[in-house]
Amino acid sequence: MGKPFAPNANTQLYGIIGKPVRHSLSPVMHNAAFSETGINAVYLAFETDDCEGACSSMKCLGIKGYSVTIPNKEGIISCLDEPDEAVRKIGACNTVKNDNGVLLGTNTDCLGAVAAIEKEGVELEGKEAVVLGAGGSARAIVYGLVTKGVKVTVCNRTFEKAERLAKEFKCYAAPLSEAEDLHAHILVNTTSVGMGDMKDQSPLSKKAVENYDIVMDIVYSPLETVLLKDAKALGKRVINGLSMLLFQAMAQFEYWTGVRAPEKTMRKALEHANG
Ligand code: ATR
Repeated sequence: MGKPFAPNANTQLYGIIGKPVRHSLSPVMHNAAFSETGINAVYLAFETDDCEGACSSMKCLGIKGYSVTIPNKEGIISCLDEPDEAVRKIGACNTVKNDNGVLLGTNTDCLGAVAAIEKEGVELEGKEAVVLGAGGSARAIVYGLVTKGVKVTVCNRTFEKAERLAKEFKCYAAPLSEAEDLHAHILVNTTSVGMGDMKDQSPLSKKAVENYDIVMDIVYSPLETVLLKDAKALGKRVINGLSMLLFQAMAQFEYWTGVRAPEKTMRKALEHANG
């Protein structure tokens, strides 16, 4: 064990703003990263849905950066001075940086998804992917994949939502039921099937999972969803929900500090906190 961190008058402050926020795994990851890289900073959880208040506090107190989570990812945008292209296209911001009083915003969820897949040694350009779901998470992931040159098909229970998303990001749409007959390199589940009351269910039959090489689930509780269990049993490469969480946090850390994020340390902190 190293010496416990002692904040002083130069300690910089970062945090996550959301409501609820007490379950967040972001503080342990970022504090571990600050400690490992020797950056004099702390990262706290702020339970609030007041985006304007959080942003004026940021400017007033010199808070360096925010992670932004539910329900603030959309509401924060109008409080930013400079939302980047990812924020404008996705319509959601999960990262704010205070650049000498100018609030910059980006979205690292899209980078996190892409990085989690690339980590498997996959060259994304020209590949095909099926994304299940058409909610907020799907928007970020579809944007990330399309930007990398992936041909994406969005499948959703409510077909109209898939159609809208596909039109916006110039990809394809299908009803969720048709996902059973599709084939692609990559499958990404962004629906809530596999968690909570639906933890014993999968969004796709095991037979259909056979049609993919890599299967990713953004659900991280449980860590091994039925979908990932099926995929593993079929010998597929699987990416669990903690990976995207880790890689989006690493991208935040780098956006804020310009320092390479310590992957091993952050992963260890995340896995330890997740039990
Ligand atoms: P997030 O921000 O995590 O993407 P969301 O915006 O609430 O969450 O989106 C949830 C996604 O899970 C939606 O695509 C939803 O499908 P609908 O658009 O048809 O509602 C999908 N979903 C939730 N429950 C589902 C179920 N039982 N079967 C299939 N899809 C489901």
